[in-house]
Amino acid sequence: MNSVEIRQCFLDFFRQKEHRIVDSAPMVIKHDPTLMFTNAGMNQFKDIFLGNEKPAWKRVANAQKCLRVSGKHNDLEEVGHDTYHHTMFEMLGNWSFGDYFKKEAIEWAYEFLTRLVQIHPGRLYATVFEGSQEEHLEKDLESYELWKEYLPVEQILFGTRKDNFWEMGDSGPCGPCSEIHIDLRNDDERKKTAGHLLVNKDHPEVIEIWNLVFIEYNRRKDGALEPLPRKHVDTGMGFERLCMVAQNRRSNYDTDIFRPLIDEIAYLTSIKYGQGRESDTAMRVIADHVRAIAFAIADGQLPSNTKAGYVIRRILRRAVRYSYTFLKQSEPMIFRLVPALVKVMGEAYPDLHKQQALIQNVIREEEASFLKTLGTGLRLLEQIMDRAAKENNRTISGKMVFELYDTCGFPLDLTELILRERNMTFNLDEFHKEMDEQKKRSKHAATVETGEWIDLRPMKTTVFVGYETLTAQAQILRYRQVRSRDEILYQLVLDQTPFYAEAGGQMGDSGFLLAGGEKTEIIDTRQENNQVLHLTKNLPANPAAVFTATVDSHRRIMTANNHSATHLLHFALREVLGKHVEQKGSLVHPDYLRFDFSHFQKINDNELSTIEALVNRLIRDNLVLDEKRQIPMEEAKRMGALSLFGEKYGEQVRVVSFGKSVELCGGTHVQATGQIGLFKIISESAVAAGVRRIEALTSQKAEQYINEKLGQLRTIQMMLKNPSDPVSGVERLMKENAELEKRIGDLQNEALQKIRNEISEKAEWMHNMNVITALVQVDSADRLRDLSFQLKNKIENLYLVLGSNIKGKAHLSVMLSDNLVSDRQLNAVDIIRKISPVINGGGGGQPFFATAGGKNPGGLEKALAMARKIAGEA
Ligand code: SER
Repeated sequence: MNSVEIRQCFLDFFRQKEHRIVDSAPMVIKHDPTLMFTNAGMNQFKDIFLGNEKPAWKRVANAQKCLRVSGKHNDLEEVGHDTYHHTMFEMLGNWSFGDYFKKEAIEWAYEFLTRLVQIHPGRLYATVFEGSQEEHLEKDLESYELWKEYLPVEQILFGTRKDNFWEMGDSGPCGPCSEIHIDLRNDDERKKTAGHLLVNKDHPEVIEIWNLVFIEYNRRKDGALEPLPRKHVDTGMGFERLCMVAQNRRSNYDTDIFRPLIDEIAYLTSIKYGQGRESDTAMRVIADHVRAIAFAIADGQLPSNTKAGYVIRRILRRAVRYSYTFLKQSEPMIFRLVPALVKVMGEAYPDLHKQQALIQNVIREEEASFLKTLGTGLRLLEQIMDRAAKENNRTISGKMVFELYDTCGFPLDLTELILRERNMTFNLDEFHKEMDEQKKRSKHAATVETGEWIDLRPMKTTVFVGYETLTAQAQILRYRQVRSRDEILYQLVLDQTPFYAEAGGQMGDSGFLLAGGEKTEIIDTRQENNQVLHLTKNLPANPAAVFTATVDSHRRIMTANNHSATHLLHFALREVLGKHVEQKGSLVHPDYLRFDFSHFQKINDNELSTIEALVNRLIRDNLVLDEKRQIPMEEAKRMGALSLFGEKYGEQVRVVSFGKSVELCGGTHVQATGQIGLFKIISESAVAAGVRRIEALTSQKAEQYINEKLGQLRTIQMMLKNPSDPVSGVERLMKENAELEKRIGDLQNEALQKIRNEISEKAEWMHNMNVITALVQVDSADRLRDLSFQLKNKIENLYLVLGSNIKGKAHLSVMLSDNLVSDRQLNAVDIIRKISPVINGGGGGQPFFATAGGKNPGGLEKALAMARKIAGEA
């Protein structure tokens, strides 16, 4: 079976067991502060496990794209060095939400592996939880007994909390698990060492393929385990490993998922896979990382300097660094793998296919810029090493290495490698100290401590009534305290709310809650997982009261104007620039809007005006909002609704249309576009390779902006003595200015010529030299220099020392004819060093010409006299 068939076989198997097959959630998570990337198939179901959300189906299965590069589950450093860990991988999973439990989970896993993938049962090992006294958790004898129906007891092993109690993160759903391991060794090896001795021992051919988790608890923030109201099943099987087994390979990289990428790298670099340990590792690193990066970009996450974007950037840089060092690639190469990747994965993940051009461009640009950084870093490191070598020092400063790492993004292992080549090391303690300090700084900046929830009423999903009304009755279901940067806030969850929670780029609403004459200000509304959090600085005196919740209507109207204008802009961009324009990011603020989208070159002024004019025309057309709530995704697609890559949509969606602009959107909008009044683009710029940004204003903000500009224009007109045509007025001024500049230049030249003639006449024949020392009036050090060179060309055997007070500072220059330097061993630098202390300054230069600057113009006369004396002694 090829990988596409294997994935399908898994899904079909569970479909037959009455599971609903759902889509993979995005790999990049947007509304969960505890998690940056999906690290397990169960993430998207977290709230169902916790009882915060009702499941739409009791049994679900899917293939989920996961990324394990940060937090509790981080495999990054292993990747490439072994043959079965990955950053991005697919997890095949089946779930029961309070439905079947251990019996079926174990039975079906066994059936799938032995009957469909045809693994011999003698190669399988199951581990079960041995219990934990510390946590008061019992041995999982139930699973043990169940497994005994399928496997002999020698193949069932008890495992510790580390291996057999699965937790999503530091807090959240968790429970005992039963892992299935497979022994792929040949018969000889298997005779030599019994398989059960190698389970969980990092043996490359005795590996875990499936984890069956029995979710029973919630790990609270304080570390305590809280039993959940219902028991659930969460299973996860490594798809790449399954393919390795099913295709009878010994490495994930030899499956049809990775081999085309490895082959392409081999072709592009002319290095064979299998040629050497280091180049093999590098090829695996690159084949793995290009997948992670491409999927992240397809999910809308571009490499950047913060948060998820930064993690993606670092993964890409790790790949570039391996390609540079071990495959000797100094030009971008990784982007060339994208077509091969799309060929392998594009069918299962069509977004990859649709966004191929963008993915390629972004990777190429990132590669090019990091290769440049590597070049700069290398040069810097060479200098540091040269300096150390001169001082006979073999250990360079850890602080410098940290700076190289921190500011240039120069990888530490590369620094180590290069140092080792020159028999050098660096001060590791110093490096760690710097690193710790930086971590402390950023931790301090970002720490948010959240308290436990205080439940006042049974939890349910908050009903949003804010499309229809800006004020509603509300009760607090639960609240908690959060502390960030010494500020204490409270998050409130309401039973129903008119407050829009920040989502899809639209800022959250603010407003207030009112009860018993007490007003509680809501400063922001956010969404976290599936909860709507209302932020307030003060808890109401009686949190159990019934409140009137009211949204700040002015702010909401301004936001709606900008949101609807964003849709019109999106439409206009696709009309004017082409259908390749895809939304890449959006910020809908009450005061302005920002829209990022794919487009491969700068938008010229003509195009910008056309886009702006089209949006304004659509505003004047006063298109009426056509809103369809809760329609099936299929129908929305038929309507041609634009959707966002990397966004999690349910099966029922909301469609917002204004005329021909049709988008999937949950935001709040104007009733008819005329309300927007006016649309004004204020900037167009680049965000990344192939991604442009437009910032714009609407309604009164656009009016203010235009009035401000007109005000400036009026001021200019007045300053120009009110000409009817300010453009020609400014042109005239510029022309006059150029003429004046030329005139000044001419005058200065004339003055210089006059000074030159006067000075020439001062030349005094002394010791076979034309000695001139003079105080001159010039307006810049450059003029002093010009003057010296002009006199050098004019007068032979010249010993010239000039002084000048330029804007209160003393300047000196010494010029010697070349023959005086070569035959008489005179040196302008020596002379300037001797005379510059009297002007409180210093300087230098070359043997025939040296200059100095100083703070004391009063010393110029004396300096010149000294110079004359030196000439007299020559
Ligand atoms: N959550 C478990 C894991 O990630 C099983 O899906 O291993």
